[in-house]
Amino acid sequence: MGTEELSVAVIGAGMAGRAHAYGYRQAGSVYDATFPRIRLAAIADANVPLGEDATRRYGFEKTYSDWRQVAEDPSIDAVSIVVGNALHREIAQGLLESGKHVLCEKPLAGNLEDAQAMVELERQYGASTDSSGRPLVTATGYTVRRTPALNAIRERLESGDFGPVSNFIATYLCDYSCDPRAPMSWRYKGAPGSGALGDLGSHVIDTGEFLNGPITTVRGAFMDTIHKERPLPVGNVVGHAHTEVSDEVEPVENEDFLTFTCTFANGAIGTYTISRVAFGSPNGQSYQVIGPWAQAAWRIDRPAEFEYDDAQAGYTTRGPRRVLINPQTPLFANSCAMDAPGNGWNYNENFVIQARAFLGQVLGDTGGLLPCASFADGLHTLKIIQAVAASAAQDGREVSIGR
Ligand SMILES: NC(=O)c1ccc[n+]([C@@H]2O[C@H](COP(=O)([O-])OP(=O)(O)OC[C@H]3O[C@@H](n4cnc5c(N)ncnc54)[C@H](O)[C@@H]3O)[C@@H](O)[C@H]2O)c1
Repeated sequence: MGTEELSVAVIGAGMAGRAHAYGYRQAGSVYDATFPRIRLAAIADANVPLGEDATRRYGFEKTYSDWRQVAEDPSIDAVSIVVGNALHREIAQGLLESGKHVLCEKPLAGNLEDAQAMVELERQYGASTDSSGRPLVTATGYTVRRTPALNAIRERLESGDFGPVSNFIATYLCDYSCDPRAPMSWRYKGAPGSGALGDLGSHVIDTGEFLNGPITTVRGAFMDTIHKERPLPVGNVVGHAHTEVSDEVEPVENEDFLTFTCTFANGAIGTYTISRVAFGSPNGQSYQVIGPWAQAAWRIDRPAEFEYDDAQAGYTTRGPRRVLINPQTPLFANSCAMDAPGNGWNYNENFVIQARAFLGQVLGDTGGLLPCASFADGLHTLKIIQAVAASAAQDGREVSIGR
């Protein structure tokens, strides 16, 4: 690649914003060492001390208090939007109008209408270029896709080793909303589907489709809310962190937990269980893929390994085996400083791979990395989310997904 420099910014210095900052900081150190220099230009957050803290930690140059300052900064090429979902559309529009490449966090938007408008922006600005003449990239951040172990399972699926997949089981159980005194935040506002389903379900729906191909119908949905109101915070809320709260409460508008089943175009059935009120489960994301010839399982608290079982061994020694990721696993070689087998993996590294793929798209060459999902892909997830909410509102009836 050439010697040009790319300048990046992150909007939002909260839980995921810092992961994007880390991703950009490391992105030039992985894979092909000839990647252009990445200039860490700015972090913007309405909570200025938080923004300043992230700026210092990750070696960015400037802190802005408003995303508009990023849009107005002509030196910035590419920007991550990492704030509450209801703000994604407005910020994406402002950035695209200013000729910036945009990587927007999942779910693409707070509702279907905003997501549709963002796909219109993608169409409108897809033909535009940045100040260096590069076509504008619009991307949705699905970070779980970048997990080497899940890519290894996907490779085996694509090789046909499982036979026709019958069942896909996805679970995302979190405990961040168990405490009724956990403060009100943007996560509890919005229509049905914008709660645990939008926040956690967007990840597992995308991974389900990443492994199995498109979902065609959903059914059997049920969703409910345990804690129907929450106290207002006294100060700022960051991610899922608890903070001092007042005596004033506001209603929780969206779901705490849900379940649904779906059919994939490949004939597999998916079973989804999702909750933000699951005691003792800080980040319980897991997948199981089941076919007549093989089975695989992965869980995020053991991200550097997966379980695999097939008929390779004779009956006397047959059984599920633990496969450790290693330099032969997709994405792993040169993806981190010490890419030796057995060293483990950390979800934060997924943000590095994502940042590298996104900036590669900006430069017109991802170096073989899967490009990021588009805004249209993000809208597709929102359509599935809406179909699940519609199924839940109608006693679990089947709802087809329009493309
Ligand atoms: N990929 C992942 O694994 C992952 C994990 C967590 C969150 N997310 C996504 O990231 C996004 C942010 O989630 P989070 O948990 O980091 O939220 P958060 O609440 O921790 O952080 C959001 C930050 O945005 C700032 N902010 C609000 N309005 C702003 C504005 N107008 N301009 C600039 N900054 C503003 C807030 O001060 C806050 O610090 C969401 O879309 C969420 O779904 C993704």
